[in-house]
This record gives sequence, structure tokens and C-alpha cells, in this order.
Amino acid sequence: MQHPEVKWAQRSSETEAEKNLLFVTINLSDIEGTPKLDLTPEKISFQATSNGKEYGFEINLFDSVLDKPIRVNRTGKGITLTLLKSTPRAEYWPRLQKEKVKLPFVIVDWSLYVDEDEQEDSVQEPNPMEGMDMPGGEGGGQMDLQAMMQQLGQAQGGGEPYRRREMTCQPSSQLDSTHYDKWLTAQAKSRHPSAIRALFPLENKPGMISLLAGKPNPETFPFENITVSLKPVSPGAPHPKLEINAGPDLAEALQYTATCGLPRLHKFVSDLQNHVHGRRCEAGEDDFAITITNGSQDAFTKACAALIEQGDYVLIESPVYTGAIPEMTIAGAQFVEIECDEQGMSAEKLAQVMDNWPQDKPRPKLVYTVPTGNNPSGASAGKQRKVDILNIARKHDFLILEDDPYYFLTFDGERVPSYFALEKQLGGERGRVLRLDSMSKVLSSGIRIGWATGPQEIIKAMDLHTSAANLQPNSTSQAIVQALFAHWGIDGLLNHVARVADFYRVKRDAFEGAAAKHMSDIASWVTPTAGMFLWLKLDCDDSNEVIKERAINNGVIALPGVVFYPTPRVTPYTRLSYSMASIEDAEEAFKRLRRTVFEYKGVEDPK
Ligand SMILES: Cc1ncc(COP(=O)(O)O)c(C=O)c1O
Repeated sequence: MQHPEVKWAQRSSETEAEKNLLFVTINLSDIEGTPKLDLTPEKISFQATSNGKEYGFEINLFDSVLDKPIRVNRTGKGITLTLLKSTPRAEYWPRLQKEKVKLPFVIVDWSLYVDEDEQEDSVQEPNPMEGMDMPGGEGGGQMDLQAMMQQLGQAQGGGEPYRRREMTCQPSSQLDSTHYDKWLTAQAKSRHPSAIRALFPLENKPGMISLLAGKPNPETFPFENITVSLKPVSPGAPHPKLEINAGPDLAEALQYTATCGLPRLHKFVSDLQNHVHGRRCEAGEDDFAITITNGSQDAFTKACAALIEQGDYVLIESPVYTGAIPEMTIAGAQFVEIECDEQGMSAEKLAQVMDNWPQDKPRPKLVYTVPTGNNPSGASAGKQRKVDILNIARKHDFLILEDDPYYFLTFDGERVPSYFALEKQLGGERGRVLRLDSMSKVLSSGIRIGWATGPQEIIKAMDLHTSAANLQPNSTSQAIVQALFAHWGIDGLLNHVARVADFYRVKRDAFEGAAAKHMSDIASWVTPTAGMFLWLKLDCDDSNEVIKERAINNGVIALPGVVFYPTPRVTPYTRLSYSMASIEDAEEAFKRLRRTVFEYKGVEDPK
């Protein structure tokens, strides 16, 4: 008999008995019939059949619980029990099981995990309305757990895969976890949790003596504190200071820490995603996950490794972010280029490609898109465009890899909802969007902080990659960003990004003004409404020679359009970045570019 994966998390309180919760999730999809689940104060026993195989376990609990769960939630992915510990205590249990042996199938549920000393601030509580509350108690009708399992089983409709929507009348439902099996690569599936990192949480248990990891002793670190002075918000205003002083905060900043990011930063990002995209990460309610990364390129690389197998078809914008080409190529992608217009990827062209997809060809796994202030085209997709593309993804069953580092650099009006937001807003199934965010363009590109938000199965594969490749994202950078976010709060961060967007709007206006003055008769472009790029179509056949050779000799560097396609071709486009150029630089650069174009054409400039 095999063991299903069992995830657990807990809460504790010495004074409020009802806060001593234990969340136990049995991850087993497509359970056939009624599983056998027994709970005594000391033990959980489970037996079930899934896809013709027998699964089961018996876990003697570390301490006793009430023998009736207070909530049971069964989804197509498994069963979550909310249990009440019998003895209210401030301390956490050090492990789920009584015996001091590692049960390899029992792991911490990071989606519900909250540090013992941060429970007060915790927002990641499971939705109390979810699942089925255990009846009984004073005068209530008694129903044992097995009867409840039966009832939950019947709610599935005679062995059909369970749909959460039927149980909870939610307007949208999560893609079943088995759905990701066909998308995850063999490499992703073969990764295992790090033996050391899986035990990290136990080190927090009071009284625990840890001889676990090869953590360097912080006494030997030369850093006494980290103090960062911030620029004043306005001239003459004070320079606020972020101080990470000796103690737990500094230790955390300088030490090995959780693979998915520092807990407080992770929580802030979770709140931010809820605030900005309207999605709260809650078990059984909206089952996505977040992981902090060393910039979004790190997340992108890991997403490619998790999702792209040799020969897989990948839908890309044409032109595409040049930095996306190498990793996808190495992963073995076969590129399917989708034409772009002034809103980026054309939904019409995408639909044409997919509606005519040959029967005998494996279907694309994902579309890669940079929907805001596209790199290189500068284009931003409107809401209807995103809705159309999302609907095509649903119809043809592929993922959307939403790489959105310029999201906060929207110049005018409201930001268009992200794909991640839309898949919830539209109703229907969720779990098709893997969103990548970056702080590079709004805080610092050197600080290397970004995050990925999306289906748990994919984020888990990315985390396993991290735990093998980097162990964790840079914790010193995370601690600085965490201190900054704690100082600002969400409103402060949003005020800051609004100022940054305004800065680039002014740059865009000046740059475009200079382009209009010097290039309007020999080039055309679409005004970017976000980001930092102007995609200029030169009045010549091949921008490569103009830009790569002649322009450099004339003292101006830009990127020729050819680098934004996966295969070589002749293109009149060039990408100009206006993020750094002063107004004077812009004027001079366009004069030089103009001279270069006429040199290339071999004709005299009429101006
Ligand atoms: C579309 C796109 N994705 C990812 C990145 C990399 O961002 P980060 O610095 O967060 O790794 C860039 C940087 O220019 C980009 O333009």
C-alpha cells in the first residue's frame, strides 16, 4: 500500500482553546468511492483507492485532538481536516507524529504555515465557510466521520471526479491537480524535497536543539546591522532609515532561510496580490501559491524547466523578449510565433493558429506573453484582448505564462487587470495562469527580487528546483525589501510605483517628442502606454546593418529587431530604451540615428 502525501500546519493559543487548530490535508486525487477515515484522539487512519491503487496510512499524533474534526473539506485533490488540539498551549507541536522518526510522506503545508510568533498577524487562514462543518456537540445530530465521508462521496455524483463548484456553489473552480501532470516535465516530476530543508520548520520549536543544517554561526559574520537610508519623498523631507538590527531579524537576513522566501515578505506579497489582483491564497478556496525569486528571470528559468520538455510547442509573441529565447530553446521548445499588433499578441491570430492546429501534432503547453509595456514592442494588451486570449487558452487547454515586470509602469489611467486577476473575475476554471512579478523596474534591478504566483503544482516544482539550485532566494535582499515594505505598507508601495510610472511617462513624452522631431519622415512607431521601450520601424529593409554596425560608429547603441525573434530574419525594426536617456541625450541620439539611416541608404538628408 502506498502513502498519499500528507501536509499539515497548525495554530496555537494558550488562552483561546478554539485557536488550537491542526490542518491536515491528505493529497490524493480522484479517490474512488468512499475513503475510510478514522479519527481517535491519538490517531488518524486512512485508506482509499485512487486510479486502481490502494493508499493508506496510520499516524499516531504528537498529542491528542478532539476525536471529531471541526471541518472536513473534500475536493478532487484530496481531503482537508481541521482538527482541534485537546490541550490549549502557546507552543507549536514540533511534528505531527508522536514518534521521533521522519515520515517521508508527511510535510509542512506552506500554504497554511504561519510562524508561531506571527499568528496574530496571520491572514492566511483557511476559509471558514469552506467544506462541511462537523455536526454534533450539544444536542446536535451526531454524524461520525465515516458517515460524513460517505455523504461527501455521494455529493460527487456516483464516482465522477468531484467538482468543487457543485459542492460550494462557487462561481469558479480550480483545475484539478491531475491536470498539471501532463504539463510538468519529467525533470520537474523527478525532483525531491531537500532532506535538510524539509526539517527547517522544526528548528523553530521552543527547546529544540538543532544539529540539522550546516548553518554558519552568525557570531562569525562581520555584519553588526543593516541600515539603509531612503531618499526623501519630496525635497527637504526627512530621509527615513530602515534598520535591521542584531537579533532575529538580522539573523534571518544573513542566514539560510525558507526556500519560498522570508515568511514576512511572503505574507506581504500575498496581501499585495490580493490587493492588486483580487486573489487571496486560501486552501480549498483559491489554491494557488507564491514563491519569492531572485528577480523574475529566475522564476522564468525555473518555469521553463518545470514546463517545457524537448519538442514541446510554445506559443510566443512575435517579436518576443530576447531574454526569454535562450532558456526556452535550451529546454527544447519549438516556437510558434503569433503576430502582434498595437496591443501585443493578436487574439485573432492565436485563435487561427489553434483552431487549425494539426490533429497529429502535440498541442502547445503554454503561451508566453509580456502583456504590459511589452519588451520589445512597448505594446500593452487591453482587457478585452486578455479576455479573448484567456478564453482561447481555456478552449485549447494551455497555460498562460504572464511575464509582467512593467505592470506597475502603466502611464495613464487604471492598470488593466492581469491574466491572473481575470481568470478569477471571469468565473470558470482557475489555475491556468502562472504570473511573474518583478521589483527590478520599480525598486532596484540589482536587489534581484521578484515572485511567481500560480498553480501550487507548478510553484512546488519551481521551489524544488530552487532548493537544489540556489537553496533560497537571496535573504539579505529579501530582508531589505521586507523592511521597506513594512515601512511603506501596501499604500506606500503603490504610491511609490505611481511616482515611478510618472517618471517614465515624462521620459516617454520627451523621447517621443525627439523622435517626432528627427525621425517622423524615416520611421514609424506606436506610442507606448507603459514600460520603457519604443519599437521603431525604420525606413529601411534591414535594421541590423544600420543599428549593429553603422549606428555604433556614429555613437549610438540600440538593439536591432532581429534579436527579438527565435530565428534569424531581416527586419526593419529596432528597440530603443528611453529609461536612462536625458532629453539632451534623446535629441542627440535621434540626430545620430537619422544620419546613420541616410548613410545606409546612400542618399543625402533632405533636411
Ligand atoms: C519581459 C522581461 N522579463 C523579465 C525580465 C527580467 O527581470 P528581473 O530583473 O526581475 O529578472 C526583463 C528585464 O528586462 C524583461 O523585460
